Amino acid sequence: MKEHTILVVDDNRTNLQIIRDILEKDYNLMLAISGKAALKFMTKKTPDLILLDLMMPEMDGRETFAAIRMNPRHKNIPVIFLTANKDEDVEVECLNMGASDFITKPIVPEVLKRRISNTLELEDLHRDLHGRIRKKTQEIELLSLQAIAAIVHAVEARDIDTKGHSIRVAGYTRAIARQMGYSENIVEQFYQTALLHDVGKIGIPDSILKKKGRLMPEEYESIKEHTTIGANILSAISTISYLEDGARYHHERFDGSGYPRGLAGDEIPIIGRIIAVADVYDAFVSRRTYKDTMSNSSARKEMIAGSGTQFDPGILSVFIRLLDNGTIDEIRQSCEEEEERED
Ligand SMILES: [Fe+2]
Repeated sequence: MKEHTILVVDDNRTNLQIIRDILEKDYNLMLAISGKAALKFMTKKTPDLILLDLMMPEMDGRETFAAIRMNPRHKNIPVIFLTANKDEDVEVECLNMGASDFITKPIVPEVLKRRISNTLELEDLHRDLHGRIRKKTQEIELLSLQAIAAIVHAVEARDIDTKGHSIRVAGYTRAIARQMGYSENIVEQFYQTALLHDVGKIGIPDSILKKKGRLMPEEYESIKEHTTIGANILSAISTISYLEDGARYHHERFDGSGYPRGLAGDEIPIIGRIIAVADVYDAFVSRRTYKDTMSNSSARKEMIAGSGTQFDPGILSVFIRLLDNGTIDEIRQSCEEEEERED
């Protein structure tokens, strides 16, 4: 069974024939009489390697090579140039362009075969390595996600009041980021970051965290520290560098009156500004021991009142749109259903 397909491009029929005689026993061959014919072949089938004559009328080897590389699907196919030109400069030029190898005519069958098998072997190893790296990366990502889920559970298990809070805030954050036009990759990063925004509550004593009734000023100061504590915890996860920003900056306010740093406007990292909106909305509409739930329309009014002072006006208007079109309610419902399933 022939494993590899080679595309041979040469304007000289005799050359094509010679190469065919040498290779047809070991490889599937596609023979093209010009650069154009080669490109046409490649729209139907992608070869594993290309033997490309440098000197051809109309479209020469360089132009054909450039045209092949234009297509993202073909940019990694190894190309070996063939030419009668023994000039060193030509050889250097071909290799600089990104050719895998260079063979001068007249063709010596054993040399041709050996060069081809070496190039293909290298390419197979390369592909194998890429596949393994991709698999490992996915495994690491999954592991990180599982670790994040475990931390979130640990935080929420301590405080029945905020059960499900992190997951809802993360869900709203994801919807806002998506609506703002971020790529799915970034949206996912924001989601994970939002999941962990309150992780620093682990470091706040129960007597303060679970206190019913009003907090004393010094107790309030202690609660505020959950931002910095969280950021410090998350900075230890060095493989995911962006996580700590959500914890650190979600209590900053757009007018600079927030904590821990008192940053204002664009100084506050975007993830902090997004989570701030999602976090406050969730606190408004969720039941806590010290307060009743607020209706969606009252929460909407309160949120809008904070535009430009507490919240970034642009982000808030995106959020209001999602609230008005029912997206936020949908997310809340699906989070609640998920929670019931877990209980
Ligand atoms: Fe918080």
